[in-house]
Amino acid sequence: MDQSAIPNALHFETNPGGLARAVISTPLAEAEIYLQGAHVTQWTPKGKKPVLFMSSASALGPGKAIRGGIPIIFPWFGPRSDGKAGPAHGYARTSLWTLESTRLSTSGEVELTFALPAGEAPGAHLRVSFGEALRMELEVRNDSASPFRFEDAFHSYFAVAEIGEVSVTGLEETTYIDKTDSFARKLHHAEPVRCTRETDQLHLNTAATCVVHDPVWNRRIVVEKTGSNSTVVWNPWSEKAAAMSDMGRDEWRQMICVESANAADNAITLAPGATHTLTATIRLV
Ligand code: BG6
Repeated sequence: MDQSAIPNALHFETNPGGLARAVISTPLAEAEIYLQGAHVTQWTPKGKKPVLFMSSASALGPGKAIRGGIPIIFPWFGPRSDGKAGPAHGYARTSLWTLESTRLSTSGEVELTFALPAGEAPGAHLRVSFGEALRMELEVRNDSASPFRFEDAFHSYFAVAEIGEVSVTGLEETTYIDKTDSFARKLHHAEPVRCTRETDQLHLNTAATCVVHDPVWNRRIVVEKTGSNSTVVWNPWSEKAAAMSDMGRDEWRQMICVESANAADNAITLAPGATHTLTATIRLV
């Protein structure tokens, strides 16, 4: 893999659990991405605190989902619903992706391209650019002869100082599925989303930019997206987090997931030969 390293910007290493990862260090940012799942686990613009939350108790070994960073969810979101067996949130996050290319842009971003080989479903490509902003692009092409229905998401875990102080704007007046209340459909009023208990909301039919406001750290995380009509907001809160073997003690207070997705009513159906691209651009302001 060393042939794709970039001097003074990108190198590859194997973590103690045996997983290969790319480590990015440039004047713009420090970052890490695992080949398993094409999973970004760190992105820290120069001089800032880490933007992504990583659980200190996360598994980081072959075939295990990583708790934190940005899991890529594909080809289904949540439990599989077509009657066949399969892991929660699809298999992309625990599959080994192939690194296709690495490059340093003229403006200093490190850009990587990964491929998820076709299996029971068509394959996918991920392009990710690490700089002052983090830009991700997931492209799915239906190279089969029949229509292909799928869900996808960038399941981003954002690091926050204290969940009780955080609000998320951008989802005003959307309808959401409340997974904590028997999947009831509810109208979210003209106010920011705040977590005061377990929160698991799948907001439908929204392509809006979301902003995570963190007054304690005096920062805002902006999540701009295209090709995405759902946004999920999730925090497990104390009881659920305590039952999760891969979440560090009380660390649920330091995270909020705001996920750029296409799920439930917004699942995508691709005609043979058609392509769909989901993008998210994340920046601090
Ligand atoms: C969220 C879902 O996207 O992910 C939640 O809406 C789920 O229902 C959460 O609990 C975490 O999922 P997992 O499979 O990573 O534990």
